[in-house]
Amino acid sequence: MRKPVIAGNWKMNKTWAQSVLLVQSISNRTDDSWESVDVVVCPALCNIKAVQSVFDFDRAPIAIGAQNVHWEAEGAYTGEASIPMIKEIGATYCIVGHSERREMFGETDSMVNKKVHALIQAGMTPIMCVGESLSIRDEGTYVDYVSKQVSAGLAGLDASHVASCIIAYEPIWAIGTGRTATPEQAQEVCSAIRAQVAAEYGDQAAQSVRVLYGGSMKPANAEELIGQPDIDGGLIGGASLEAEDFCDLVKVAAR
Ligand code: 13P
Repeated sequence: MRKPVIAGNWKMNKTWAQSVLLVQSISNRTDDSWESVDVVVCPALCNIKAVQSVFDFDRAPIAIGAQNVHWEAEGAYTGEASIPMIKEIGATYCIVGHSERREMFGETDSMVNKKVHALIQAGMTPIMCVGESLSIRDEGTYVDYVSKQVSAGLAGLDASHVASCIIAYEPIWAIGTGRTATPEQAQEVCSAIRAQVAAEYGDQAAQSVRVLYGGSMKPANAEELIGQPDIDGGLIGGASLEAEDFCDLVKVAAR
C-alpha cells in the first residue's frame, strides 16, 4: 500500500504574516488521521522558516516543501537558492519542473533531471511535475509526451531512488482553470506514468513511486480522483490557500 500524499503548492501567494496565519489555522485542524497521509505545504521560499517555526512549536504532522531549487550547492547564480539552504530552514520536499516554471522560466527536462538527482543525493523528496498543454491533449499524443517527460526527468537514477520520488501529473489545461481532468482522464495518464516507471526501473519501483494528480483539485472532486487505482493523492494550488479546503482534502485522502 502506498501512503497518500496531499501537497499544497502556494505558488507566489501569502506574505510572511499571511503564511503564519494560514499554517496556524491548518495546524489547529490536524488530528490522528493525518498520520496516514504525507501532508506537505510548499510556501514561498522566504516564508519556509516562518512556517517551519509554527509546525515545530505545534509538533504538527506536516512537512514543508520548496517550490523550486538550484542543483548546485553554492556559487554565482544570482536569485537562486540551493538545496543546503532550503534544507537548513526545514524543507524536506521540493517541487521541480512545475509547468509554470517550464513555460515562464525556461526549465527544461535536463534541468529537472539535475534537480531531481541533487535532491535525492541530499536525502530530500522531489515532487516532479509533468503534464501536457491543451494542444498536445487535442492532438492525442499526451500519453507519449508525458511518458517522455517522466523518462527524461528520472534518467540515470537507481530504481530504489525512483521508488522514493513523487511524480505529479498536472495537465496544463486543468491548472487554475476550474476545468478538472475527469477521474478517467487523470487515471489514464497516471497509469501510463507508472507503466513507464515499470518499463525502465521494474515493478517494485513502479509499485512504490507515488503519482499525484494536480489541476483544480478541490474537496468536491477529490474523492473520485484519489479513488483511482493509480492516483495516490494531489498537488493542490488554489484550494491549498484555504485552511478548511486543504484540511478537507487531507480528510479525503485519509479515508
Ligand atoms: P490549481 O489547483 O490552482 O489548479 O493548481 C494546480 C497546481 O498547479 C499545483 O501545482
